Amino acid sequence: MHNFLYKHSELYAEDVPVREIAAAVGTPFYLYSHNTLLRHLDAYRSAFNGQPHTICFALKANSNIAVLKVLAKNGSGADVVSGGELYLALKAGIAPEKIVYAGVGKTEKEIIQALKARILMFNIESSDEMQAINRIAGSLKVRAPIALRVNPDIDPETHPYISTGLKESKFGIPIAEALEHYKLARKLPSLEIRGIHKHIGSQITTIRPFVDALQRVIALANSLKSQGMEIEYIDMGGGLGIPYNNEHPPHPQELSKAILPLLKDSRFHLILEPGRSIAGNAGIFVTKVLYLKKHSLKEFVIVDGGMNDLLRPSLYNAYHNVLPVKKNNRRKVLSDVVGPICESGDFLAKNRDLNRLSQGDLVAVMSAGAYGFTMSSNYNSRPRVAEVLVKGSEFFLIRERERYKDLIEGTKIPHFLTERSERK
Ligand code: LLP
Repeated sequence: MHNFLYKHSELYAEDVPVREIAAAVGTPFYLYSHNTLLRHLDAYRSAFNGQPHTICFALKANSNIAVLKVLAKNGSGADVVSGGELYLALKAGIAPEKIVYAGVGKTEKEIIQALKARILMFNIESSDEMQAINRIAGSLKVRAPIALRVNPDIDPETHPYISTGLKESKFGIPIAEALEHYKLARKLPSLEIRGIHKHIGSQITTIRPFVDALQRVIALANSLKSQGMEIEYIDMGGGLGIPYNNEHPPHPQELSKAILPLLKDSRFHLILEPGRSIAGNAGIFVTKVLYLKKHSLKEFVIVDGGMNDLLRPSLYNAYHNVLPVKKNNRRKVLSDVVGPICESGDFLAKNRDLNRLSQGDLVAVMSAGAYGFTMSSNYNSRPRVAEVLVKGSEFFLIRERERYKDLIEGTKIPHFLTERSERK
């Protein structure tokens, strides 16, 4: 469910016409709905009410600080994977004891930063990393709270690029070797074992992989217990899918219904790390038609937003619904919506039957609130776009569009290229 709906043929974000926002901030831009964000967070909160739990929003999906503040104010924690994300989570007011830190390549600097912040736990991905965290914590004279990220070898049946829980993936420690790793962790003096972490992939549209993976994790928790290592936290990662097209992913309520019985009688504190299912359908990408180009088979709709702004279609061949901001009754034409980037792979949508668009029309690329702006870049030296948050009948610019001068911010000209030396 989201709050981008038509009223009298015109697309609204909550109570504001998208057209009005475009007129104020220019195109292209990302547009988020405050109510949708909250509704999605609440869906998780009420679904898991019966179990001690923390929702740790995955910042990689959307890390605009205003979006994070909305979630923080409503009790969300954070799943971070870099020092930058940790910085943003803390800046947004997310309590350190609700922050978990994953990722296969944490640097010494990042480990120190997280230890100093006193986060809930590091989700450790290898024994080398475990040794490093132990050493660094020891030198700071603190104990590092940890979970081991285990790889349960479950097929989440999703896109190979976003599937992480299979044996051959670079993530986590194979579950068969987990016990040995926990025994090693117990011997390391500056580590405090708190939990088990797993994350098997993203855009998962069935319940089964979650249940299978959790069963394996619970079995591991039981064998740890029999070895005298009682863990408090089970972090089941993120990964719940969203409807982009015709998918029918389970609601958090269905997920909890399937999962909570497995945890009954246990005192585990459950951690969930949703990203996409909170932010994905809470955001759209708005872009303007620049030109139309007829081809014998179809029409190219050339818009001002490209793969540098929204990479998912190019990178994963991902489907995002494309809607006109103002509905029209013109005839349907087979269309490719493409951007201005100098690459054939630069498209937002392919082979869609769209009511013929005209120059200047606005289109909304739906379900773009997760992995949209966060994956954008300056490719082709394009300033990154603006972001806007709608709440009821008000809208707020939450990131200014970059300017050309931002493209040289931080760059330096070596002295031999300065005018004076060139004259010599
Ligand atoms: N926790 C961990 C450890 C993760 O690696 C991820 C996502 C999440 C949580 C959040 O997963 P979500 O609930 O959003 O599915 N760029 C790709 C998605 C990559 C996901 C990577 N990990 C895309 O645009 O589809």
